[in-house]
Amino acid sequence: MHRHAILAGLVAVLSCHPVHAQEPGNVGKGLSYARAVCGECHGIEAKDEVSPNPEAPPFKAVAGTSGMTGTALVVWLESPHPSMPQLIVPPDDRNDLIAYILSLKDQKQ
Ligand code: HEC
Repeated sequence: MHRHAILAGLVAVLSCHPVHAQEPGNVGKGLSYARAVCGECHGIEAKDEVSPNPEAPPFKAVAGTSGMTGTALVVWLESPHPSMPQLIVPPDDRNDLIAYILSLKDQKQ
């Protein structure tokens, strides 16, 4: 009896403090965000092999970089863009964006 109460309490405590795991983002929302904010410079769709700004790698190429992971993208997006330091992506949009970019990995063109 007593033990169960402790266990129940522990479960309650744990569920109040969810681990800050990264929520999987929404690919569709990521695409709309990329279109609105990144598309000016980056080729953002799987078929885009060149970017509007030739200095900016298309997202397909970013996704295809070996070892590219969500974590690597978070790090990149948390550091200011060398060419545009004012670009800050809010965390919610960032998750969606990352989900979208990583989804390009397995797409054929
Ligand atoms: C004004 C133009 C511009 C916009 C807008 C822009 N970028 Fe970039 N981005 C660049 C350029 C230029 C580079 C390559 C040079 C550099 O590292 O800054 C780059 C590089 C990157 C890289 C690194 C690629 C690599 O393999 O090193 C990532 C990731 C990236 N951008 C993501 C984004 C995302 C996501 C957005 C939208 C939220 C965005 N960028 C918006 C110009 C832009």
